[in-house]
Amino acid sequence: MTDSLFTQPMLQDRFRDTTDPVLQLEKINVAFDSFKALTDLSLSIGVGELLCVIGPNGAGKTTLMDVITGKTKPDSGNAFYDQDIDLMSLSPVEIARAGIGRKFQKPTVFEALTVMENLEIAQKNDKSVWTSLRARLSGEQRDRIDEVLELLRLGERAHRRAGMLSHGQKQFLEIGMLLVQEPHLLLLDEPAAGLTDAETEYIAGVFRTLAGKHSLMVVEHDMGFVETIADRVTVLHQGQVLAEGSLRDVQANEQVIDVYLGR
Ligand SMILES: Nc1ncnc2c1ncn2[C@@H]1O[C@H](COP(=O)(O)OP(=O)(O)OP(=O)(O)O)[C@@H](O)[C@H]1O
Ligand SMILES: [Mg+2]
Repeated sequence: MTDSLFTQPMLQDRFRDTTDPVLQLEKINVAFDSFKALTDLSLSIGVGELLCVIGPNGAGKTTLMDVITGKTKPDSGNAFYDQDIDLMSLSPVEIARAGIGRKFQKPTVFEALTVMENLEIAQKNDKSVWTSLRARLSGEQRDRIDEVLELLRLGERAHRRAGMLSHGQKQFLEIGMLLVQEPHLLLLDEPAAGLTDAETEYIAGVFRTLAGKHSLMVVEHDMGFVETIADRVTVLHQGQVLAEGSLRDVQANEQVIDVYLGR
């Protein structure tokens, strides 16, 4: 009996931790001239959750990431990070500093620099490449880079020029450049695009390792990949949320089958 007095509030706390949203979007509208890219879009991501966003080309998935990162200011709507940080009032730099990191659809690494140098620059988040490279890393920063090199299996290539890497290795490096900044919320736009089957399988495992400690939003077309990694799936279509739930739920949704998955 007495036990329950103590365990109950603790359980409630844990329940709160895992269901509190790290990101909450409410009725976001974005129009480019008269074209509505996002319409009354609402969604949330829980702390430690891995949300996959799927949907046909042009559905608004990348635009959604542009809104979260401050690249595109919506015409209306609200966006809160970590419950009470109003993203609408922050610049892209401030949003990144607040702990939201993004990987773009195409890899954008510094090809002329080594893998290690790319990670150092990303970590210091400095606009000037050369001041970053001259500044010395703390032991902690170096440990973090080593950890990321190992996690992404780039250790042996640390001193190789990034331009010499395969497409998949560049994708991994760019994910590493995100991880060294230790963001709380990671936004990844088609991270498995162009990866080999083995690389896709490996990176899926990496994402599962990151979930829990980090919250993730992953845009992906590869349903096998989504199936492996997603806690929850949101389907976008013509700038609106068409369906939400487990992958199994959305795959069984008639509208989703019609507009995206096919029969
Ligand atoms: N800056 C812009 N100006 C005008 N139209 C834009 C702009 N950015 C995006 N759009 C349009 O908004 C729609 C949504 O684009 P978005 O890139 O978000 O789609 P997506 O879901 O990421 O597609 P994909 O799967 O092809 O990457 C598209 O019709 C696109 O042409
Ligand atoms: Mg896109």
